[in-house]
Amino acid sequence: MTLDLVIKGGTVATASDVFAADVGVKDGRIVAMGESLEAPDVVDASGKLVLPGGIEAHCHIAQESAAGIMTADDYYTGSVSAAFGGNSSFVPFAAQHRGMGVTQTLDLYDGRAAPNSVIDYGYHLIVADPTETVLKDELPAAFARGVTSFKVFITYPLMKIEDRQFLDILAVAKAHGAVTMVHAENNGMIEWMGEQLMNAGHTAPRYHAPSHPALAEEEAIHRAICLAKLVDAPLVIVHVSTPEGAEIVRRARADGAKVWAETCPQYLFLDKSDLDRPGMEGAKFMCSPPVRDARTREALWKHLQTGTFTLWSSDHAPYRFDETGKLSNGPDAPFKKIANGMPGIALRLPLLFSEGVNAGRITLQDFVALSATNAARLYGMHPKKGTICIGADADIAIWDPKLTRTVTAADQHDAMDYTPFEGMSLTGWPVTVLSRGRRIVDGGELKAERGSGAFISRGLPEIAGRPGYKAPELDPAHNFGAEIAP
Ligand code: URP
Ligand code: ZN
Ligand code: ZN
Ligand code: ZN
Repeated sequence: MTLDLVIKGGTVATASDVFAADVGVKDGRIVAMGESLEAPDVVDASGKLVLPGGIEAHCHIAQESAAGIMTADDYYTGSVSAAFGGNSSFVPFAAQHRGMGVTQTLDLYDGRAAPNSVIDYGYHLIVADPTETVLKDELPAAFARGVTSFKVFITYPLMKIEDRQFLDILAVAKAHGAVTMVHAENNGMIEWMGEQLMNAGHTAPRYHAPSHPALAEEEAIHRAICLAKLVDAPLVIVHVSTPEGAEIVRRARADGAKVWAETCPQYLFLDKSDLDRPGMEGAKFMCSPPVRDARTREALWKHLQTGTFTLWSSDHAPYRFDETGKLSNGPDAPFKKIANGMPGIALRLPLLFSEGVNAGRITLQDFVALSATNAARLYGMHPKKGTICIGADADIAIWDPKLTRTVTAADQHDAMDYTPFEGMSLTGWPVTVLSRGRRIVDGGELKAERGSGAFISRGLPEIAGRPGYKAPELDPAHNFGAEIAP
């Protein structure tokens, strides 16, 4: 067989193994691994790491916030920035807002993504309006078109669903094998704390942190897991920001609940001292849940090292530091009126490589699991995406583990005017990124055509083998013999 391309002389790593091999590509897929492979097109990877292309599983691209503010990045700039950061796929959100249908929402996002994305993409569907039609017809239709993960909010007045609506969505998700993600913070606590602070005249960005207390996350994670356990549905707790929340997930997993946790770089690399920068600068560091303190950062690193977190995502939510974004309600708007979220899609992996792998906190295999494999497995893309094996898409990131660079906003290739990680010195960077065998980034340059990314029709999450929990009340034997849905 004649190969199209060979990646020669590198060290290949997967979530389980590290070995020296050439990787042969034909028709966009990995078809050979071995010694001395030959092809007309060669990528020299000597001294480099050959890793599965990253999968960014939590980012906000061409998405309106509930308050109607559009993210700075569209599917072109967002995907370009992701590619420079070592990613060959991403799964942003398609957000249903109240009054919108689900099919209408997915069609809208197809129009935004297909002509623009340079990497392969799917969507997590945000369900904010679970009407009877949505539950009965539209969620199954979304599943059938390859959108196999749903996200809900139990906070934010314009997005939040009630507990019993959450159960309805979990039950539909379970029936189809979809996985549900939740933004878990207690809405009442956040509104009440915000009111106390605002009434006392505390309006600066720094007050964003106390307005989202750790207890709000703790309560909501516990409640969300209980709801999921009642119907035995798989659940992902996104952007966990506290050790208290992480502990709850760890314990629930030990009890057999089908629950997974995600965390994000900002919770391990930044803290509330950043919110306290002079003037409105702190607004650049506002996200929800908020960045916390030094104790939290250390505790979350421990959880990452010991396996509590299955997912490591950027939560890239890009709002510029100007009147189109953070300052859209004026140059000194109170914290309650400032868009939440920060950029970071190009730095998710370099931050973890430098401070995780190079600093000796995690192994290279852990890095691969957190950068791609776990997301591929949980979100129904494995083994086509997320690993290096025969038959997989040739989605590959070639890393120089010794290259040191200082982070600047200009190097992000996004549509933003700042990065919260400005000035950090990181060692270990992706130098060449392939998507289905095509070079999309090489030698510091973009090689991909706008719109060359393809929709990833996703399948079932790989959750087989994990013990399930069934609430005794749903077991007919304990329930007067009655069969109860689901
Ligand atoms: O502050 C954040 N993270 N904004 C994005 C929306 C979300 O909750 O993920
Ligand atoms: Zn969220
Ligand atoms: Zn988010
Ligand atoms: Zn698999």
